[in-house]
Amino acid sequence: MTDDALRLAIIGCGAVAKRHLLALAELRDRGLGGIAVTALCDTRDAAARGLAREAEARLGARPVIYTDHRELLRRGAIDAVDICLPHGLHHGTAIAWLETGVHVLCEKPLGITIRAGRRMAEVADRTGRVLATAVPYRRLIGQRTARWILRESGLIGAPLTFFHQYTRAPRSQPAGPAVPSAPTWRRERLMSGGGPVMDSGFHYCDSIRYLLGDVEKVYAELREVGAGSPRTLAETREDTAFVTLTFKNGVVGMWSWSMAAPGAPLGNVVFYGSEGSLHDTSQPGPSIFHLFWRNPGSGLIESGEVTRRDGTTRALEDLERLYLDRLGEEERETLFPRGTMDGFAIEIWDFAEAIRGRRAKPEVDGWEGLQALAICEAAYESAYTGEAVRVDAILSGERRAYQQRIDEHWDLG
Ligand SMILES: NC(=O)c1ccc[n+]([C@@H]2O[C@H](COP(=O)([O-])OP(=O)(O)OC[C@H]3O[C@@H](n4cnc5c(N)ncnc54)[C@H](O)[C@@H]3O)[C@@H](O)[C@H]2O)c1
Repeated sequence: MTDDALRLAIIGCGAVAKRHLLALAELRDRGLGGIAVTALCDTRDAAARGLAREAEARLGARPVIYTDHRELLRRGAIDAVDICLPHGLHHGTAIAWLETGVHVLCEKPLGITIRAGRRMAEVADRTGRVLATAVPYRRLIGQRTARWILRESGLIGAPLTFFHQYTRAPRSQPAGPAVPSAPTWRRERLMSGGGPVMDSGFHYCDSIRYLLGDVEKVYAELREVGAGSPRTLAETREDTAFVTLTFKNGVVGMWSWSMAAPGAPLGNVVFYGSEGSLHDTSQPGPSIFHLFWRNPGSGLIESGEVTRRDGTTRALEDLERLYLDRLGEEERETLFPRGTMDGFAIEIWDFAEAIRGRRAKPEVDGWEGLQALAICEAAYESAYTGEAVRVDAILSGERRAYQQRIDEHWDLG
């Protein structure tokens, strides 16, 4: 396949699809061409039209619009699709396209359950098509450097524990005229698969595994407290989480957060090793879901600090430079093509390069995406059953009390 032959269709033209367009423009601006958005699909015609206008403005060509992806599928002439749909629609859509020989980049979480995600990965293997899970955050310089600090540099010795905490008050509805309501699918478990642990939490689960290795077991208490009295996962969707993660290498840590904590906000993301700590000091507070991250559009870099046992400190900014200097030219070009630091652009480029056969597979393929999903599902299973849950038992399907009703709904039972 030649560089300029990749015809991409974006399916689902909501919030994240707009971000993908910006990433495609970033690639084009850096001379990383060869990806043309030739079609857009959304059941909401207005959403597709709006994105088509933006695509024309940013990329110079207006994609053809569809309101039913099956019609697009029948027409052919697409090499790859970028699935930006609600979670329950990921597996059916991805599998339909993989089966017709089209490569798939699928937004996180890979599938709505382990069965859904596993089928996607299996079909990709059988058809020989590329399946990539869209996770931009591990590709950012802050997380790449944090991994180097934790796993290779020796700066904080052997990683042992972490404390990741965040709270904020519930967001109130803005005063004034009614605003259009946010998409409701996130509140429906059969379409979302879960709340923030599954949604932005998928990023955290991918990153924490990227930073520290495979998780052995999970114990979680998930609650909704925003309504004024605690409700459990059996009744509702979490706005508050206490998740203990025990890793196969013995590291243990706590991921805890609440989006319904009136009063004093709290933000603390720190890793401890035998010789010191690595602290995310981003202001106004670290992101509990997207570690060592600041909005790439803001031009600001991540902020963090290593503190050694003897009290000496190193700024993450300096360590990022050191990390970059240590990379060979080829690796640097693979991780940050033409110097881009935009995780979304890098994930799309990685996908395109895998399709072109220039790398064996995308960094986060279906199987890798399934691993992060299994950590999310282990947290739900634990909160649902009140027991600690082994991630391997989630991956094998041995434990799926929480997922069962969702699987049945999508005919995956
Ligand atoms: N990587 C990130 O940082 C990030 C950020 C936000 C969302 N996401 C992920 O992106 C995906 C979409 O999230 P979003 O926030 O853009 O949601 P959204 O609700 O803004 O957009 C989803 C779009 O899909 C459309 N749609 C629904 N059913 C459809 C169908 N059958 N065919 C075609 N279109 C259909 C909707 O009309 C809507 O425009 C989710 O998987 C989400 O988790 C990722």
